Amino acid sequence: MSVVTGTKLIPPHGGDLVDRTGPRPADIDALEVVELTSRELSDLDMVASGALSPLEGFMGRDDYDAVLETMRLANGLPWALPVCLAVDKAPSGDQVALSDGKRAVAVIDVEEVHEYDKENEAQQAFRTTDPAHPGVARLYDQKPLYLAGRVTVFERAQSAFPELALDPAQTRAEFAAREWKRVVGFQTRNPIHRAHEYLTKVALETVDGLLIHPLVGDTKSDDVPAATRVECYRVLLDGYYPRERVVLSAFPAAMRYAGPREAVWHAICRKNYGCSHFIVGRDHAGVGDYYGTYDAQLIFDEFEPHELDIEPMFFEHSFWCRACGSMASAKTCPHDREQHVFLSGTKVRELLANGELPPQEFSRPEVAQVLIEAYRT
Ligand code: ADX
Repeated sequence: MSVVTGTKLIPPHGGDLVDRTGPRPADIDALEVVELTSRELSDLDMVASGALSPLEGFMGRDDYDAVLETMRLANGLPWALPVCLAVDKAPSGDQVALSDGKRAVAVIDVEEVHEYDKENEAQQAFRTTDPAHPGVARLYDQKPLYLAGRVTVFERAQSAFPELALDPAQTRAEFAAREWKRVVGFQTRNPIHRAHEYLTKVALETVDGLLIHPLVGDTKSDDVPAATRVECYRVLLDGYYPRERVVLSAFPAAMRYAGPREAVWHAICRKNYGCSHFIVGRDHAGVGDYYGTYDAQLIFDEFEPHELDIEPMFFEHSFWCRACGSMASAKTCPHDREQHVFLSGTKVRELLANGELPPQEFSRPEVAQVLIEAYRT
């Protein structure tokens, strides 16, 4: 089933927005049950909503191999990361119920069960086989087989932020209602500090609207929890962004921390949400020192511009410059490093934990205040 989309916005990846929601099968209670991890549940729900269009389910061997080797699906369409369901053994029936741990939420038509090489997937997707990498650790921890097939979701996941939960068809409808054609998407897993604010506003100068699309699926335990971040986004938007130019909505994906490949994957997903442009700054979706500062930008050179359709907007590492008296980057600022306000994550956490506001040049006081409160509790 496909959803008709507005003609002015960028088309979904592959042409049509997938809708894999459907009725609960009458025989669901008789089916074998596979329990999904929270990352797999995020992926499942994104397949249902069309956020992962053109995927209609969990990938089979052909797509999986092609994605790892060529960053394209078997049909040649760009796709950067595996979307797979790991299981212990091949099911006996040709349909399996998928459970969230409490109840069945979907059914999968079993097309294939295949083995996979975890080290190869780690190397290709994450560019490292180091088990200390959080994405690699998760992969090494997975069950040994992949179960592939089309899914039908009859019970959608409950969002922790219902008022921010917009499916691709809904963000598209919202953009169309606002008569936006050129929309820039902003992925984030952090509170929006001045650097993030700068990127989003510079990008907004050249397009019609901005989708602030914080990821609210699983993140590492030391990332700021989504509930705190959402509070930060609200106070920041209230104080510093023009309401009529910005949509705030939650992106239900789990973080993979796959850096460059995840940047491409993030862009493709945002295209499905109706974004024509996508911000990629420094070390997008990175973790530790696994990726070079601009690797997540360089990877876009591996595609012809028309292949992705969505246009990446690249940003240099941004900071406040005291001499410029503004946000800047190495591209726009001639001054020495001493003029630049840099704070390490550790330093910021230290300040917040002591109830101290980081400098205004680093974070808006309203945002810092929310973080201080969160550290107190
Ligand atoms: S991410 O994992 O979602 O990439 P984060 O929320 O920190 O992490 O970043 C969101 C986006 O802002 C990414 O595109 C990232 O590259 C960009 N970004 C973050 N901080 C800066 C900065 N100081 N300068 C330029 N880009 C940045």
